[in-house]
Amino acid sequence: MSFDVVVAADSDWGIGKHNALPWPRLKGDLQHFKRVTTDAPLGKRNAIVMGRRTWESKEVAGKPLPNRLNVVVTRRGVQGVDGMVSASSLDAALEAAKGSAGIFVVGGADLFRASFMHPELRWVYLTRVEGDFACDTQIPNLDQMFEREPWAGEGTFEDNGVAYRIEKMQRR
Ligand SMILES: NC(=O)c1ccc[n+]([C@@H]2O[C@H](COP(=O)([O-])OP(=O)(O)OC[C@H]3O[C@@H](n4cnc5c(N)ncnc54)[C@H](OP(=O)(O)O)[C@@H]3O)[C@@H](O)[C@H]2O)c1
Repeated sequence: MSFDVVVAADSDWGIGKHNALPWPRLKGDLQHFKRVTTDAPLGKRNAIVMGRRTWESKEVAGKPLPNRLNVVVTRRGVQGVDGMVSASSLDAALEAAKGSAGIFVVGGADLFRASFMHPELRWVYLTRVEGDFACDTQIPNLDQMFEREPWAGEGTFEDNGVAYRIEKMQRR
């Protein structure tokens, strides 16, 4: 089953710092994330797949994001909670999420890297955050692998003094 990626990166392809998002709260981007990962046909729900460090990050803090099946990828294991299942690899996570309306890999860098190489990857929803936020976690330059796919949801926005552009991309 195919899956999509949802990622936000700064001008240097940084995505995180000290196990948190490095930029001030971007309300419009959080709404975009929620909408894309939650919207599903009536009576169905989507799955989000994340690495163990993202599960423990400041924004998720070990609480499943609501109305989505949360699949946490870990080799060493993680304590289970309601609304979350764990898997030992990206492929095992995709298998665990089979039957969901849509599957979205939502980070962090380890899982993104595995996803960008994966044959079942369909789209990358990329938020380009303007500026360099001195991140300690990075993804590869996506412009070398993917190209913009015109999409009604794309646009340029600003929150908390930070400009960002939301795009949908597909493999070149
Ligand atoms: N900007 C964004 O869009 C975005 C999105 C999400 C997260 N982030 C940020 O990214 C940072 C966290 O990312 P990260 O790269 O450090 O960690 P991560 O990818 O979230 O988690 C890494 C852990 O996940 C497990 N894992 C990852 N890939 C695996 C694989 N292929 N097979 C089995 N297990 C796998 C391992 O867990 P075990 O060690 O338990 O075995 C690994 O140590 C934070 O700063 C977070 O805020 C940013």
